[in-house]
Amino acid sequence: MDLTGCLAVVTGAGAGLGEVVARAAAARGCRVLVADRDGEAAERVAAGLRTTGGRARGVACDVLLDDDLERLAAEADAEGGAALLVNNAGGWGDAPAQYPDADPDEWSAVLALNLRTPMLLLQRCLPGLRRHGGAVVNVASSGALGRAPYGSPPYGAAKAGLIRLTTSLGGPATGGVRVTCVVPGWVGLPRALEEWDALTVAERSGRPALVPSEHVAATVLDLAADDAPGGTVVELLDGTGRTVLAPDPA
Ligand SMILES: NC(=O)c1ccc[n+]([C@@H]2O[C@H](COP(=O)([O-])OP(=O)(O)OC[C@H]3O[C@@H](n4cnc5c(N)ncnc54)[C@H](O)[C@@H]3O)[C@@H](O)[C@H]2O)c1
Repeated sequence: MDLTGCLAVVTGAGAGLGEVVARAAAARGCRVLVADRDGEAAERVAAGLRTTGGRARGVACDVLLDDDLERLAAEADAEGGAALLVNNAGGWGDAPAQYPDADPDEWSAVLALNLRTPMLLLQRCLPGLRRHGGAVVNVASSGALGRAPYGSPPYGAAKAGLIRLTTSLGGPATGGVRVTCVVPGWVGLPRALEEWDALTVAERSGRPALVPSEHVAATVLDLAADDAPGGTVVELLDGTGRTVLAPDPA
């Protein structure tokens, strides 16, 4: 898929990994809709991309609000429809308590942010994506993997669901739109780098290396540009390693 001039929608792109993905998409010639619940941050990132020759626009969008998702999809349609959707917004949520102590509203929001939202936005963007023979890349997490106890059970469960959603959509249901997924370990964003620097040598040993955010972003763009088959999952668990899990035969 030729990314030049195609419209990329990136959620949660006002900071963190999404910002790095938005930058990588612009560098590869995409027009970028930088979506974030913090509209000012979204526009700041978009303005930064424009100053370096990119084509980008910030959109205020809280992906937990169906109306905002509807509006984001409509804005993408108004620009010809998304050819690439990166479902990046996600996280543990803001609640101090975790399941089972957290209120149902709190853990439901974590499930929604990490699973329902990517599902809904994909659905809303599907007509445009189909027209362009486009691609969706979901951003999961290593928190979805393995059988060890995990600090945010709803996050781990939702991201595991996101991976299986991706592989489930490897068949014809999306009408040629390729749905793929990256599964990063701990990403080397500024806060993580600070925490990493504060660890002792003993604490660091045995931990996988931080995954550079640029490596995750490059993988996201490669999945789209290299026509990776729908259902492909790429684990990025340690530094700059890449484990590509091809979809099982139907
Ligand atoms: N940071 C990591 O180490 C790491 C590791 C594995 C996976 N991930 C995944 O990568 C993605 C990005 O993580 P991050 O650490 O960059 O996130 P972050 O917490 O730094 O947030 C990035 C941006 O998302 C926006 N955002 C948060 N909630 C939103 C909402 N409801 N609607 C719209 N925008 C919203 C924030 O305003 C912020 O600008 C997430 O899906 C996360 O689960 C992150």
